[in-house]
Amino acid sequence: MAALDRKVKVLVIGAGAMGAGIAHVAALAGHAVYLYDTRVEAIDKGLGGIAKDLEFLVSKGKLEAAERDATMARLTAVTDLAAASDAGLAIEAIVENLEIKQKLFLQLEELLGAEAILASNTSSLSITAMGAPLARPERLAGVHFFNPAPRMKLVEIVSGLATDREVANTLYATAKAWGKVVVHAKSTPGFIVNRVARPFYAEGLRVLNECAAEPATIDAAMRECCGFPMGPFELMDLIGHDVNYAVTRSVFDAYFGDKRFTPSLIQQDLVLAGRLGRKSGRGFYDYGAGAEKPLARTEANASAERSVTAVGSLGVAEPLVARLEAAGVGVTRKAAPAGEAGWLEIGRGRLMLSDGRTATCRAAEEGLSNLVLLDLCLDYATTPRLVLTRNDHCGLGAWNAVVGTLQQAGVAVSRIDDIAGMIGLRTVAMLANEGADAVLQGIGSAADIDLAMRFGTNYPKGPLAWADQLGVRLVARVLRNLGAHYGEERYRVSPLILRMSHSGDSFHD
Ligand code: NAI
Repeated sequence: MAALDRKVKVLVIGAGAMGAGIAHVAALAGHAVYLYDTRVEAIDKGLGGIAKDLEFLVSKGKLEAAERDATMARLTAVTDLAAASDAGLAIEAIVENLEIKQKLFLQLEELLGAEAILASNTSSLSITAMGAPLARPERLAGVHFFNPAPRMKLVEIVSGLATDREVANTLYATAKAWGKVVVHAKSTPGFIVNRVARPFYAEGLRVLNECAAEPATIDAAMRECCGFPMGPFELMDLIGHDVNYAVTRSVFDAYFGDKRFTPSLIQQDLVLAGRLGRKSGRGFYDYGAGAEKPLARTEANASAERSVTAVGSLGVAEPLVARLEAAGVGVTRKAAPAGEAGWLEIGRGRLMLSDGRTATCRAAEEGLSNLVLLDLCLDYATTPRLVLTRNDHCGLGAWNAVVGTLQQAGVAVSRIDDIAGMIGLRTVAMLANEGADAVLQGIGSAADIDLAMRFGTNYPKGPLAWADQLGVRLVARVLRNLGAHYGEERYRVSPLILRMSHSGDSFHD
C-alpha cells in the first residue's frame, strides 16, 4: 500500500504538545499542513515551538537552513476549520475526551471529502467507540505518536472494528515515509505500548511494596543491569504519577478489573499526597534545591576466592565465568547433573541464576545451605552491577566469598531481600508474558510488539526477543514459580508461553 502523496494536505487539530509535534513531522516530510486549535495562543505557541526545534536541527547541522524555511512555509495556522476543507488527512490531538473527539470527527466528515482519512492521536480511548457515530467509520483510525513526536520513532496505527484495512495500510505507509517505525495494533485498551509496558512499573512497585529493595536500588537494577534507559521509579517521576496512575487505572478498568493490571496503593498514595514527581518537585525522589539522589544499595568490599568451580552452564549468565577468568580467578569446569541448571561454586556458596523461586524456597527444595541467586542482566560480560539475594540461612562467609569474587571481576553488587523472581527477571518475564498475550489476542504481531517496545519506550531489547534469548521454557518456569509463590491471577502464564514452552518454539526465527 502506497503512502499518501506529498501533495495531500494534512490538517492537524490541537496545537498542544502532540499536535505541534505531529505538524512538525508532517511538514518536514513535505506536506502542506494546516494547524488548528480553538485557542489562537496555542497555535502561536505550537508554531513557535516548531520553529525553535527546526532551528536546533539547523544548529546541529542536521537540517539545511533552506529546508527549515521551506518546512515553516508549508505550515499554515487556521482559526476556522472551513479554511482547511481541502485536507486529505486530518489528525486530531485535542483533549482526551471521547464525546468531544466524536463531535469533532462528525464536523470533519461534513467538511472534508469522502476520501479523506480521519485519524486520532488518542492514547487511551477506543477507536471503535470514536467511530461509532460517524457516517464513514471505516475512514477513521488511530495514529498514536509518542511524546515528543519529532524525536520518538514509534507510531502505532490503531484499527477499530470498522476501520478499513486500506486506510490502516495507507497510514502505515505514510508514517513510514515520514521516517517513523510503524506498527499495526488493534484498538484494545492501551494498544500495544501502554499495555505491554504495565509490568515495567508494576513489578518495581511490587518489589518496593514488599520492602525488598528501595527505589534507587530497583532503578539501578533496571538501568545498569538490564539496560533500560531509566528505572521504573525515575521514569514514573518523569511521566508524573497522576498520568502514569491514570493510564494504569484506565487499562485495569478497561480490562474489567483483570488482576494482571491491578494498580499500586503506593502510587495512589503519591497522587493523593500531590507528590506527582519532577513536576511537583517530589515523587519517589526529592527534586528540591540541594536534594541529593539516593544511591543504590551496594555491598562493601569483600575478599575474593582464588578459584571457583563452574558446574554446567549458567545459561544467559555464562559470560560471567569468562569475566572471572579474565580477572585472574581460576575456573575449574565440571558437568552438571543431567537436566539441571548449572551453578558456580564459590567458596562455600553456590551462585545460580534465579528461576523465579525465592532463594529460601529453592535452597529448601534442593537441600542446599548456602544459596546465592543472581538476577537477570542484559549483558553479563559488561554489566557494571549485579543484583544478588541469598537464602535466609546462608552463612555470611559463603555470601562474602561470592560477593568478593564478583567484585574482583569489576562489578558492584547490590543485595536485595529474598523476593521471588528478584527485580529484572520478574519484570522481563512479565513484560514477555504481556507481549505474548497481546500476540495471542491478535493485537499485534510478535515482531511489531518488540518494535513497539523498543521504539515507543526505548527498551534495550524487545520483550519477546528477550524471552527467546532466555528460553521460553525458563520464562514459563519463572512465571509459574511467581504464580505458585503469590497465588495471584497477576502471574498467570500466557497460554501462548505455556504452549511454546512445550513445543520448543520461539517468538522469532
Ligand atoms: P495538550 O493539552 O498539550 O494539547 C491539546 C490542545 O488541544 C490544546 O492546545 C487545546 O487548546 C486544544 N483543544 C482542546 N479541545 C479542542 C477542540 N475541541 N478543538 C480544537 N482544539 C482543541 O495535550 P497533548 O498532550 O498534546 O495531547 C493531545 C492528545 O494526544 C490527547 O488525545 C492525548 O491523549 C494524546 N497523546 C498525548 C501524549 C502525551 O504524552 N502528551 C502521547 C500520545 C498521545
